[in-house]
Amino acid sequence: MRLHRFIAQCGVTSRRKAEDLIREGLVSVNGVTVTEMGVSVDPETDQVEVEGKPVALPDKRSYLFNKPRGIVTTLSDPRGRPTVAGFFPGDVKGLKPVGRLDMQTEGLMIVTNDGELAALLSHPRHGVEKEYVAQVKGVPESKAIERLRKGVWIEGGRTAPASVDLTGTDPKTGTSLLTLIIHEGRKHQVRLMCEAVGHPVVHLKRVRIGPFRLKGLSSGEMRKLSQKEVEALRLAARKG
Ligand code: URA
Repeated sequence: MRLHRFIAQCGVTSRRKAEDLIREGLVSVNGVTVTEMGVSVDPETDQVEVEGKPVALPDKRSYLFNKPRGIVTTLSDPRGRPTVAGFFPGDVKGLKPVGRLDMQTEGLMIVTNDGELAALLSHPRHGVEKEYVAQVKGVPESKAIERLRKGVWIEGGRTAPASVDLTGTDPKTGTSLLTLIIHEGRKHQVRLMCEAVGHPVVHLKRVRIGPFRLKGLSSGEMRKLSQKEVEALRLAARKG
């Protein structure tokens, strides 16, 4: 791994500022000051010091998180709205949500400080399955369901084939429940899809990401993933 990237991943500073620190002669590798760019280090065996203090990569931690409704998926919000960061454990550095859920969407998210895992899960080529339960207005006819399955035109192009089923209707509220399984993660995708077939979303919940279900996690709760579970997630992403 390149030295400036390593320093940034240790949480010391940004990559650009890490380059400045190197240039200024403030970084040593195995006791030798390094001032040129492009040096690589082995995070396992090389001893890196910044301004005389040893630095190390943070422990990689990944969590399942049940995002409540009304919370924004950012670490800080300029408008002062409650964010997901308010739910994160205070003693784990560098945690970020992978992807996003709309403020009014609730349900399952992955939260991690493992940059590689986040990149793998976010890559459009590796679309891991995401399952949603959408309460929509009206009762979609089979034609509308078929259109959702085949793909509909929304902002940014046609959606990829999806698995869509009508799983309930409530004559009292005039709404229905749809279960949708998609691989993509486009902005407002499920809301736009349902809107495109004339059945706007009233309430949206993500109930599954790859091998993990929301069941058992209460609203606002986080659960740490084991090494084995992280591997299962990686595998699902590669297959997706
Ligand atoms: N689709 C949406 O429309 N919103 C979400 O939050 C997630 C998927």
